[in-house]
Amino acid sequence: MTKKNRRVRKAVLPAAGLGTRFLPATKAQPKEMLPVVDKPLIQYVVEECLASGIENIIIVTGRGKNAIEDHFDSSPELERFLESKGKTEQVEMVRSISNMLNFSYTRQKEPLGLGHAVLTARELVGDEPFAVLLGDVIIPGPCPATRQIMEVYEEIGIGTIAVETVPTERTNLYGIIDTQPADQTRWGKRLLRIRNLVEKPKPADAPSNLAVTGRYVLPPEIFDCLERTPPGSGGEIQLTDGLRLLAQEQGLYALEYEGQSYDAGDKLGFLKATVEIALQNSEFGEEFRAYLRELKL
Ligand code: UTP
Repeated sequence: MTKKNRRVRKAVLPAAGLGTRFLPATKAQPKEMLPVVDKPLIQYVVEECLASGIENIIIVTGRGKNAIEDHFDSSPELERFLESKGKTEQVEMVRSISNMLNFSYTRQKEPLGLGHAVLTARELVGDEPFAVLLGDVIIPGPCPATRQIMEVYEEIGIGTIAVETVPTERTNLYGIIDTQPADQTRWGKRLLRIRNLVEKPKPADAPSNLAVTGRYVLPPEIFDCLERTPPGSGGEIQLTDGLRLLAQEQGLYALEYEGQSYDAGDKLGFLKATVEIALQNSEFGEEFRAYLRELKL
């Protein structure tokens, strides 16, 4: 495979889940549209794609998710209104959202699992490598996690997923990987070869404390693996099961990326992301920090 064929141009953002962990907020609105400080969750994810050099975004939506499409569409009435009030900065900001990248949408008719959501994007991805970013996981910071794993793929040509260390007592909340050292590479010990992936193991059964973070760069062969993946836990087609097949047949790497993720589809994760991002805000971050100190917790 030439390096040119390894270029990752497209990203799939699965956003068709029901968001049951965030009820009642998600009863009538997509969890991916919940605002963290001043932007919906999924905009952080799209901005990560932009900063990583992705050109095309494919969002997997479902019933009740129209707000996502509207958010990334142009809004002429709003723009005209803001222009008439002389609010040029806001006009630019609103325009920049719809001009950010090329967007396509596909619908997952039923939320049959993350693996099924990725498979739904098969036609739009075609026969090329692509990134997957979970629409409810945000990774703030200067060096996008997606860019970090794209660099591995573009150099080595083997699917690569982002992982991070989690406390041993929390392995039952994540997909956990079993690894062996990768051959000598410029990423040193941070790059590992995946032997197996286990969904939410009890701490005593966990093969490591390296958790799958929600950022993947995959070759198109993952689609065949997912086609052959039977429904797993909860009757859903699990991406983890498809990745296990890919690891066996083609190989799969894990990169301990630099950064920290927030599972903002979970109430506590959402609150942590909100505090972290608010503290970095150039307008009111310092004032917010002072306020938190005053709380004397
Ligand atoms: P989650 O498991 O976090 O999402 O999937 P969920 O199922 O919506 O949430 P809970 O557990 O009920 O609270 C991670 C991402 O994958 C998408 C979700 O929208 C989310 O962004 N997803 C999940 C799909 O697109 N389709 C599915 O069938 C499942």
